[in-house]
Amino acid sequence: MSNHQEPATVATRERREGDGSPIVVVDDVHHSFGSGPQAVHALRGVSFEVRRGELTALRGRSGSGKTTLLNLVGGLDTPTGGRISLDGTDLASLDEPGLLALRRDRIGFVFQSFGLIPVLTAAENVGVPMRLRRVPAKVREERARTLLALVGLADHAEQRPGELSGGQQQRVAVARALANDPDLIIADEPTGQLDSETGRSVMELLRAVVRSESVTVLVATHDPNLIELADRVVELRDGRIVGSGS
Ligand SMILES: Nc1ncnc2c1ncn2[C@@H]1O[C@H](COP(=O)(O)OP(=O)(O)OP(=O)(O)O)[C@@H](O)[C@H]1O
Ligand SMILES: [Mg+2]
Repeated sequence: MSNHQEPATVATRERREGDGSPIVVVDDVHHSFGSGPQAVHALRGVSFEVRRGELTALRGRSGSGKTTLLNLVGGLDTPTGGRISLDGTDLASLDEPGLLALRRDRIGFVFQSFGLIPVLTAAENVGVPMRLRRVPAKVREERARTLLALVGLADHAEQRPGELSGGQQQRVAVARALANDPDLIIADEPTGQLDSETGRSVMELLRAVVRSESVTVLVATHDPNLIELADRVVELRDGRIVGSGS
């Protein structure tokens, strides 16, 4: 790649600045798995908002409903009751192709287990979401390198996931989540498989991209060290919100 100066931002399109307006609105959401006496009521009337340009942490014990809620906000599953909107669009108004496009174009996902494709290099992994949008190879490669530089992995673009540390793999996953310049990044315990120091550096990276890319992040975590980096904390207990604060 040419020796050009790092851009202040890698965002490719105009985005509304973090003006504190809600980008995600969750209104009285219920979700059950199964039915009848065996039904598990994972969410029991959850309402909260994620504000644009903020890092919101969703905390709560194991089984409190964090993953269930993130999957619903990400359009990976449909709530059994209540409403969720992203940037003013009611998710219930979208059909399957509409949800697919929303997930591909507007949301970046980061998972606990990184979810990288082992046979692809770091740069190719970052390029995957752009391939889904048929971005030309040259543009894809250029942007993948810019994003890897952003997450501090400029010198590791050609390495495969197995040749990277856990923290480096999660940085690649963050770069991949940014590939299509999403409005929202949803991260489910992104530091859960990392030691506390590496975990903290990944969280600081998320913190930094919220600022530099004016992206919004919703992250589930039980890691108390990470909670302090959030702008806002929402706490779930047994499928209900028990606390919300800055
Ligand atoms: N596919 C499923 N089928 C049945 N029950 C489920 C399913 N997924 C989740 N649950 C149940 O829903 C509840 C909430 O689970 P969820 O995975 O959302 O919790 P969590 O807060 O993410 O926990 P963790 O911190 O362990 O990841 C739990 O009681 C869980 O057993
Ligand atoms: Mg979970």
